Amino acid sequence: MKNLLITGGCGFIGSNFIRYLLKEPSFSGRIVNVDKLTYAGNLESLEDIATEFGKKRGVKERYIFKKGDICNLTEMEQIFKEYEIDSVCHFAAESHVDRSIASPEVFIDTNIKGTFNLLECARRQYAKLEYAEAEEGCSRKNRKEFILFHHISTDEVYGTLGPTGYFTENTPYSPNSPYSASKASSDHLVRAYHETYGLPVTISNCSNNYGPFQFPEKLIPLMILNAIDGKELPIYGDGKNIRDWLYVRDHCTAIWLIMQRGKRGRTYNIGGGYEIENRAIVDKICSIVDQSGRAPRGFVSSNELIRFVKDRPGHDFRYAIDCTRLKNELGWEPQESFDTGISKTVKWYLENMQWVERIKSGEYRNWIESHYQNQISASHT
Ligand code: NAD
Ligand code: DAU
Repeated sequence: MKNLLITGGCGFIGSNFIRYLLKEPSFSGRIVNVDKLTYAGNLESLEDIATEFGKKRGVKERYIFKKGDICNLTEMEQIFKEYEIDSVCHFAAESHVDRSIASPEVFIDTNIKGTFNLLECARRQYAKLEYAEAEEGCSRKNRKEFILFHHISTDEVYGTLGPTGYFTENTPYSPNSPYSASKASSDHLVRAYHETYGLPVTISNCSNNYGPFQFPEKLIPLMILNAIDGKELPIYGDGKNIRDWLYVRDHCTAIWLIMQRGKRGRTYNIGGGYEIENRAIVDKICSIVDQSGRAPRGFVSSNELIRFVKDRPGHDFRYAIDCTRLKNELGWEPQESFDTGISKTVKWYLENMQWVERIKSGEYRNWIESHYQNQISASHT
């Protein structure tokens, strides 16, 4: 993989992946990061990486940022051509379930149409190379190859579980939100391009991630920042919904393993194997915040700020991942336990308040105000 296109590299997982991969000895190629810089994309998350791996005299440039919209086919074609893209790792998406309930259309555009555009670019690149091989009789070894389209997806495509059982790669798709339905649709397109055109693809369906650089609309960073600010901690419904949490760096190691050694055309589930109720997560966060001396003034513990608010419509009860395939075939194991990962995460937010403050400007404030205003007033503890 000499010229790897990463889409959505300025978001939470994409920026962690770029940081991980450029320091990984088994990758010596160049990354082209294409991101539209929506509210969730932040160039600041990769400032140090751009300095270290970007254009510098006398040093091979290994990181390039291009502002671009995956919904714009012409723009994407131009990028494939200009940078001779031979592989793709596709993160770009609208990713927040609550936003998909409030305004679904952009999820359809970015997650479905955007993925389709990238697949078309990859297919053309792949087909062109096949024709060139046939016409010129050049050996497979000598021609430039299109190596891989890796699609980042979610466990939410499988729908919801009751108190027992796990999602395997054979669980039928049953998405319940506009977000998960749009991701399911994009997964089907990627699979179909493999079956129909022979495009080399892999797909990964991962559980909930947490860690540095996550946008504070998601549960964990929202609760950390509200707790230290002395703001209410809104838990949907009765707080008994369960998610399976994975530290973001462990997701990155799994993605890179799959990209290198995963069977083409195959899906791999990724999960942390750590299931916990939302209420219990918030309690853990509060106790770490309290222990670090950041309980808000006037409160014995920050968990006094917990409020149970109106539930999310169509709220999936439980996600739990069976990632036996990934472990058995590729030997992946997560390195971080939830207790160490969550402590590192709280510490990261406390030490990076500048990054946080810049994010908490206009658009973020508008979302928080409009999404939570009715819920908080209807709350009880
Ligand atoms: P994020 O919202 O933090 O980042 C998304 C990035 O995509 C942003 O940088 C944004 O600017 C960019 N983007 C959005 N629309 C774009 C467009 N039209 N063109 C180009 N760039 C665009 O998301 P995340 O949490 O980092 O998730 C990344 C991927 O991983 C998504 O595909 C998501 O479905 C998947 N995923 C996320 C989780 C999780 O827990 N966060 C778990 C499993 C899978
Ligand atoms: O499972 C993978 C998915 O995890 C990814 O595909 C999504 O991109 C990612 O956003 C995440 O989806 P969730 O909906 O599970 O994450 P979120 O952080 O929004 O919510 C986690 C749980 O916490 C969920 O049960 C809803 C609840 N919640 C969330 C918020 C924002 C609350 O109780 N209060 C809140 O304010």
